[in-house]
Amino acid sequence: MPGKAVLVTGGAGFIGSHACMHLAQQGYLPVTLDNLSTGFRDAVRWGPFHLGDVRDISAVRAAIDEHGVKTVMHFAASAYVGESVAEPAKYYGNNVGGMLSLLKACEDTGVQRFVLSSSCAVYGTPSRLPITEDTECAPINPYGRTKLVCEWMLGDFSAVSRMRYVALRYFNACGADPGGALAERHNPETHLVPLVLMAASGRRPAIDIFGTDYDTPDGTCIRDYIHVQDLARGHMAALRHLESGSDSLTVNLGSGQGYSILEIIGCVERTLECSVPVRRKARRPGDPPVLYADTRRAADMLGFRAERSDLATIIRDAAPTFGLEPAREEHA
Ligand code: UFG
Repeated sequence: MPGKAVLVTGGAGFIGSHACMHLAQQGYLPVTLDNLSTGFRDAVRWGPFHLGDVRDISAVRAAIDEHGVKTVMHFAASAYVGESVAEPAKYYGNNVGGMLSLLKACEDTGVQRFVLSSSCAVYGTPSRLPITEDTECAPINPYGRTKLVCEWMLGDFSAVSRMRYVALRYFNACGADPGGALAERHNPETHLVPLVLMAASGRRPAIDIFGTDYDTPDGTCIRDYIHVQDLARGHMAALRHLESGSDSLTVNLGSGQGYSILEIIGCVERTLECSVPVRRKARRPGDPPVLYADTRRAADMLGFRAERSDLATIIRDAAPTFGLEPAREEHA
């Protein structure tokens, strides 16, 4: 029997498709709306598919009306930091313009709950670590600015309606469904973990390390890597929070651990018993040296803790996508 319908914009993408799988496992009906500009039709397997753009208000309304949607999870957005610097119009159009149409459709149709994919990019280069949600938001690129504007829009629309929301500020999403049903596929791929795995498998000649002179213990940037399955669970926790009648909330979703680029590479080498060719390169413009989450609010307000985000598990789960066989389980 179909469960409660949730409109998932961007449900054909990396994080959205994993969220759909998890929603279906929990008895919901994920209704995907995706324009397939970066997503994959074959990743939509757990509910109906509507081909359409969030900026097409009639397409959004049709999906909401057809399935009696009262909850929206909004993943559909452009998400390359470098591209956002080069093409700000695309980012303000897709991300802010898309959010406006979607919120209007939600207002028209009486949607009650909204879960937003936001990003740690809203913080820019934080003055203190770990990053709490009260850290000043000072994004340093158009992508981060569009996500912050989306958060503001959500606050303003919810203030004049009965809609409540959770804005989830993700840290670095990675990994893949351990059952192998879904994978991380970006074109072009720019994210560290899949690129290291491609270098490990010989699909790329090497991994370029962008900057080895940062003020960090080994000189490379530190990030908080969270398994996509944990992100999917975080969305479910946000949905349950809203279903219980609790107030709107903005919350980090991270593992709370920071790892350097060299630590990621070392973990791939140990976990997959391989060697990864590296090339030391100049810094990538716009990279903050260190980002990792304070996870207390997620624990206190959503009862959420990352469970699958230790590095070796992330790497083992992502490896088959790149034709790599994970070695036996590691025991600490
Ligand atoms: N990196 C390399 N070589 C590569 C690719 C990445 O050294 O070939 C480095 C980056 O310079 C960075 C780290 O690996 O220090 C992680 O880079 P990613 O591109 O994987 O991820 P980012 O931290 O840049 O970006 C992520 C999300 C964005 C989000 C951002 C917030 O992908 O959507 O975090 O800072 F906006």
